[in-house]
Amino acid sequence: MCGIVGYAGPRPTVRPSDPAGGEALAVVLEGLRRLEYRGYDSAGVAVVAEADGHDGPGGGAHALHVTKRAGRLARLVEALEAEPVPDAAAAIGHTRWATHGGPTDANAHPHTSADGRLAVIHNGIIENYAALKAELLEQGVPFTSQTDTEVVAHLLGRAVAAGADLTTAMREVCRDLEGAFTLLAVHVDAPGTVVGARRNSPLVVGLGDGANYLGSDVAAFIGRTRDALELGQDQVVTITATSVEVTGFDGAPVTPRAFTVDWDAAAAEKGGYQWYMDKEIHEQPKAVADTLLGRTDASGALVLDELRMDTAVLRRTDKIIVIACGTAAYAGHVAKYAIEHWCRIPVEVELAHEFRYRDPVLTERTLVVAISQSGETMDVVMAIRHAREQGAKVLAICNTQGATIPRESDAALYTHAGPEVAVASTKAFLAQITACYLLGLYLAQLRGNMFADEVRTVLGQLHGMPDAVQTVLDRSEEVRKLAHELADSKSVLFLGRHVGFPVALEGALKLKELAYLHAEGFAAGELKHGPIALVEEGQPVFVIVPSPDSRDSLHAKVVSNAQEVRARGARTIVIAEDGDDAVLGSADLVVRVPRVPTLMAPLVTVVPLQVFAMEVASAKGLDVDQPRNLAKSVTVE
Ligand code: M6R
Repeated sequence: MCGIVGYAGPRPTVRPSDPAGGEALAVVLEGLRRLEYRGYDSAGVAVVAEADGHDGPGGGAHALHVTKRAGRLARLVEALEAEPVPDAAAAIGHTRWATHGGPTDANAHPHTSADGRLAVIHNGIIENYAALKAELLEQGVPFTSQTDTEVVAHLLGRAVAAGADLTTAMREVCRDLEGAFTLLAVHVDAPGTVVGARRNSPLVVGLGDGANYLGSDVAAFIGRTRDALELGQDQVVTITATSVEVTGFDGAPVTPRAFTVDWDAAAAEKGGYQWYMDKEIHEQPKAVADTLLGRTDASGALVLDELRMDTAVLRRTDKIIVIACGTAAYAGHVAKYAIEHWCRIPVEVELAHEFRYRDPVLTERTLVVAISQSGETMDVVMAIRHAREQGAKVLAICNTQGATIPRESDAALYTHAGPEVAVASTKAFLAQITACYLLGLYLAQLRGNMFADEVRTVLGQLHGMPDAVQTVLDRSEEVRKLAHELADSKSVLFLGRHVGFPVALEGALKLKELAYLHAEGFAAGELKHGPIALVEEGQPVFVIVPSPDSRDSLHAKVVSNAQEVRARGARTIVIAEDGDDAVLGSADLVVRVPRVPTLMAPLVTVVPLQVFAMEVASAKGLDVDQPRNLAKSVTVE
């Protein structure tokens, strides 16, 4: 939630009256455009520019320029075009997902100190802001917003006015703050410098040639550099054009871990699609293929060297608990069926925000698998901390290098889906299932639950999935048409069993978040215990039918469920594999997917549901990539 960008570059070579904003503003706006998925309630920038030209070694006096607007980034850009800011050696920018204070101009970031010399932007929640604000109000400090962030602006401004340099001021103030925060600040007394800090909220550093960058994630500066540094918990970073210094909140120097981003700016563009989501849906074959890449040795055995987890820990594991939220949790739910089947280890799947409140039973033999695309979901971070405090080992499955979740885990297995920009998760889901399957097979191999040839067989099936997913994409026209027909529906239901159940849940989630219509996913067997009462004439019901080759009579049971709802007036859209003619009598429409092994089915059956939700939203004229009230990365609890 909230996207943050900082830039420190060379002193401008143009005079302030020359093209507005120059490089500093260009960098920050480009970063905000790439981060807008993190929040889009308002946006703002601040630059520290020379007030009266910049001749002379130190330049002249400096002034702070702040522009901010409620609404999408486009409104900020319009405002900057109407009233340009001068070029500068330092700038910060923010795109907001509102927590404290509604999405108004006044509550938009940056916020300024009472003396107007400092600007700060913030991602997170300052939990003790009310007490701090009360103290400041008592001292006569005027407030202009309802945000928690403004207290930080006043506290920092006051510390600098009292003689501290901006970095020292940041350290001092951060020590008094509680909650989650990434902060970036600029001050007229420190032109060319941006100071950042983080606790429980993401911040990465981009290392450029003659310029340095800060961002909530690497997308902020991917157009400029792929060399980056991870910042740890409770650290302050000071960047100028030529230097990056990191210390702890206590002032002790820190050497951050460097990494190179393995995707480039082109990967973060729309590539000719109308929506990022459409592009990302079409990238799914590659997301699966890339996640499988380089995971076997010459003999065909599975190797997961990057895990760097003691194999003794994995061998002794007697329980797995998957923690995740939203789509990532459904990926975990799919994985449960596979891992239990292959490894004979009990797997629980828990929504991360519920995990620590139910007092879960954790021992040193429990392996907690934390799944997250962004690697920043605060509910997952807090659950990881709880699990580790209780002695469990945590393995992260994550799509984002340098993120908090892999950093705070004992081991990490990366999905290689590339940047996922659309708020609705698609390719990350397929990549997460793929990575979970790799983990399951690896455990089975290590613990001797499967023979080498069995592992190779399943790996071969996984390697066949990119083509199968592509086949579903090639056939998606029918679902697109259906979406336009059903766009005015009041409610859509999704039924599935076994691995089709989490797929049903995912189909419903996609439709809720994108098309704002009531949608629910059910375990098809649960229907007769209540939900069937919802069915009335014309009610659209998607039924995810397992392969006739699947376990026992599962296929027949789901086909019966489709008949039961159809008999009560439902319009059934049945997702079934090629050649499964048994579904014909219970379907108003059959959406065909290629025949794949039972446990691989979610990778194909979910695709028509993603396309359907996207097309319904599109038909309703909604913003597919940035649905209302949501943000891509949920960094508050
Ligand atoms: O970044 P994460 O994978 O941790 O995010 C988890 C959920 O917030 C995310 O999957 C969310 O449910 C998506 N908007 C669903 O499309």
